[in-house]
Amino acid sequence: MHEIIRQLDEKRALARLGGGQKRIEAQHKKGKLTARERIELLLDEDSFEEWDMFKEHRCTEFGMEAEHVPGDGVVIGYGTVNGRLVFVYSQDFTVFGGSLSETHAQKICKVMDHALKVGAPVIGLNDSGGARIQEGVDSLGGYADVFQRNVLASGVVPQISLIMGPCAGGAVYSPAMTDFIFMVKDSSYMFVTGPEVVKTVTHEEVTAEELGGAITHNTKSGVADLSFENDVEALMMTRRFIGFIPASNREKPPVMPSYDPADRVEMSLDTLVPDNPNQPYDMHELIVKMVDDGDFFELQPDYARNIIIGFGRMEGSPVGIVANQPLVLAGCLDIKSSIKAARFVRFCDAFNIPVVTLVDVPGFMPGTSQEYGGIIKHGAKLLYAYAEATVPKVTIITRKAYGGAYDVMSSKHLRGDVNFAWPSAEIAVMGPKGAVEIIFREEKNDPEKLAQREAEYKERFANPFVAAHRGFIDDVIMPHNTRKRVCRSLAMLRDKELENPWRKHGNIPL
Ligand code: HXC
Repeated sequence: MHEIIRQLDEKRALARLGGGQKRIEAQHKKGKLTARERIELLLDEDSFEEWDMFKEHRCTEFGMEAEHVPGDGVVIGYGTVNGRLVFVYSQDFTVFGGSLSETHAQKICKVMDHALKVGAPVIGLNDSGGARIQEGVDSLGGYADVFQRNVLASGVVPQISLIMGPCAGGAVYSPAMTDFIFMVKDSSYMFVTGPEVVKTVTHEEVTAEELGGAITHNTKSGVADLSFENDVEALMMTRRFIGFIPASNREKPPVMPSYDPADRVEMSLDTLVPDNPNQPYDMHELIVKMVDDGDFFELQPDYARNIIIGFGRMEGSPVGIVANQPLVLAGCLDIKSSIKAARFVRFCDAFNIPVVTLVDVPGFMPGTSQEYGGIIKHGAKLLYAYAEATVPKVTIITRKAYGGAYDVMSSKHLRGDVNFAWPSAEIAVMGPKGAVEIIFREEKNDPEKLAQREAEYKERFANPFVAAHRGFIDDVIMPHNTRKRVCRSLAMLRDKELENPWRKHGNIPL
């Protein structure tokens, strides 16, 4: 028996070595941790249960029958993050460049199947050269098996992808179908085809970093949700992030003890909105002063900055926050910001996370570039997402809520549950200047008269009371009481029940 145990220890030690000491050192030299080191940091100490440590590939092409590494380039299993169950797979770049073989794919599928059965998140730590070239179509089939599971798990269990190395070809499409993508700066890349292929096909000269680095995907493409300085920061922030989301669509998000009084008054909010309606202010200030302990976990902070999305807590319960940002493009809705917010609202709705919407929006962005880009279809995504959402929805209009954008931003008409306005709110079809220039076109050569008309329009419509008279606004609240009023509303809505009519699935304008 002792001999058998010794052999097992030996086998385990060999598997733990992955592609060997030399490759581990090369990985460290690039500033990257190994697959197992990453899992150790991600999960609670001693909580990891590993599966399929001895699984090997069955490929016999290109001399592969002589190249077997136990585990076949991916470490899988489950463990806990702050005591909560998660499933994890971590690709080992030291083994055939973390490339995905048939066997490697089966291992990923195994954790995904279990995660779906028990209802727990899947966290993928991706570091892979894509399809295992020696395997050909077997590895393509493996990718498709993973993709299929990504889709079936979508909206059932949260899926988070950390990109911690090169991810090329098939290796980008699984993350693309997960809920969130976090990248590591300077060591992670995502592209469908690498710089060499780009050069051959389009004659563009581009570096891997420019084509698919963390900055590119966090500022230009919007493919990623966050970027971090290094592996350790990415893993620590993922642990924090998991604290905002439920284990599955069958659960409510986890409640934390809260020591921040629900009735905390913030007098400084009374002067947040400037007197001049054209002067911007930072909506982050309202968010931070509203949520528990000023703790706001922002997503996509450097992409479509005219809208802010992220998680916070109110009285210990997670909420998703969507807010127009008057500091950028006056907070207008454009293609990118509509898509960014729509996807976030749908995530919150799928996972029972109430949505708090902060509105200061002058409308949709006009112009040919937006129209040619399909603002009609993309703006409709946000409209659709809010209208479809059945989670508690609380809305506060701080200033402008003009035109279609008023409707879109979780208005009462889209089943907003509680809709508040600050006294500074202006709820109208459009801004006073634009409105009088249309209605009183014949007076356009008389600036004095036009100014008088504008003042009249402002007096009549640029306020929250016309909407409040209709009941479209439930109350006009003092800015300093915002936290208290939102906390109360969310507490009232805790057991909200609302169902959409049965259907196979809706047809969101994609
Ligand atoms: C098998 C691979 C591999 C792969 C890397 N390796 N990618 N083995 N299949 N796809 C091996 C290398 O041979 C090497 O082995 C080790 O991993 C490390 O690779 P290096 O090239 O030395 O590392 P680095 O310089 O850091 O470059 C990493 C890389 C590069 C950018 C990922 O290796 C690369 O470009 N690989 C090919 C990427 C690719 O074209 N993949 C297929 C995509 S098509 P040794 O033994 O030397 O350590 C695809 C189709 C799926 O995925 C589509 C589904 C929809």
